[in-house]
Amino acid sequence: MLSLRELKDIIPIKFDNSSGKIGWIDQRKLPQDEVWKLSDSPKEFESAIKTLEIRGAPTIGVYAAYVVASLSFTAPYDNYYNYIIQNAGIIKNARSTAVNLSWAINHMLKILEMYKRNNIESLREVLVLEANKINESEYNAGKSIGINGRDLIKDGDTIFTRCNAGMLACAGSGTSYAIIRQAWQDDKDITVIVPHTAPLYQGARLTMWECEKDGIPAKLIADDMVGYMMLNTTGRKMVLVGADRILSNGDVANKIGTYQDAVLAKYHNIPFHVAAPTSTIDRTASSIPIEMRNPEEVKVILGKLKVTTEKSKAINPAFDITPNSLISSIITEKGIAKPPFTSSLVSQI
Ligand code: MRU
Repeated sequence: MLSLRELKDIIPIKFDNSSGKIGWIDQRKLPQDEVWKLSDSPKEFESAIKTLEIRGAPTIGVYAAYVVASLSFTAPYDNYYNYIIQNAGIIKNARSTAVNLSWAINHMLKILEMYKRNNIESLREVLVLEANKINESEYNAGKSIGINGRDLIKDGDTIFTRCNAGMLACAGSGTSYAIIRQAWQDDKDITVIVPHTAPLYQGARLTMWECEKDGIPAKLIADDMVGYMMLNTTGRKMVLVGADRILSNGDVANKIGTYQDAVLAKYHNIPFHVAAPTSTIDRTASSIPIEMRNPEEVKVILGKLKVTTEKSKAINPAFDITPNSLISSIITEKGIAKPPFTSSLVSQI
């Protein structure tokens, strides 16, 4: 179908094949400043992931794949493989919840192992090619998620989302945002409700920015307003969020606040949908590690405005887990899984 709503993708990562440097948009500085970083330093890679310059489960996975490719350019010849393996290990531990990070590192190290007898030039080529493949596959997965989920959204719908699950988070495509975007391109009139997503404000800073760039009507709300808005918004409503890790039984880890959204949705009889590429499904784990971030992020807003006394105690879990019983569907690039979820989610898609 021809759409008059022509949209432009935002690609958050670039790789320079000749130097082995990675370029990325510094997501901490958005939306005020669009600053690009370019580096081949393992220390800077680690810090970019830890500080959320680069973030969102699929984007972190793609970035990690390029990190391994980049290491193959900078590794010293006398300690080549060890250098790559050691630094890749450090990157793998930079964040704990999004399964895409460890998946991408393990995958790239497997490729390194397979081709380690090649000469260095050709090994580099293989690693760059593999990272490009992961990048492309995440991008395409997002597009397919949008197409698979498009019929969930009807003309006039209000969609509650959480955090940022759009192009910045998903290597130029999106998970829940891909479905919203597809519905918008299908000429449906929709409204997106975007909670701040404190303490790092990915909703306010990033999802609102993406919606504005695409021209999609969106309203920013404080995190505490979700219940009020569910109760007082007329018409058809739904919640549509992304995921950082999904267990085989359908339990979903996503940005802190998602579990509250799901409980509120249940109370208000609103469907709660999750969108994610199959790379986010953890087929082996039976529990999900929750990343505990520095409590200072809760006490000092975006590193600038101190809102507590020095001695106030805070905790800062970055993700929560929504049990499968609260989930209406899981939309992937391969298809849609619906409850009751069994212990092998992948076979239900
Ligand atoms: O801490 P972040 O910003 O990396 O967390 C991101 C999210 O929780 C997103 O909602 C998630 O990755 C799902 S879709 C990409």
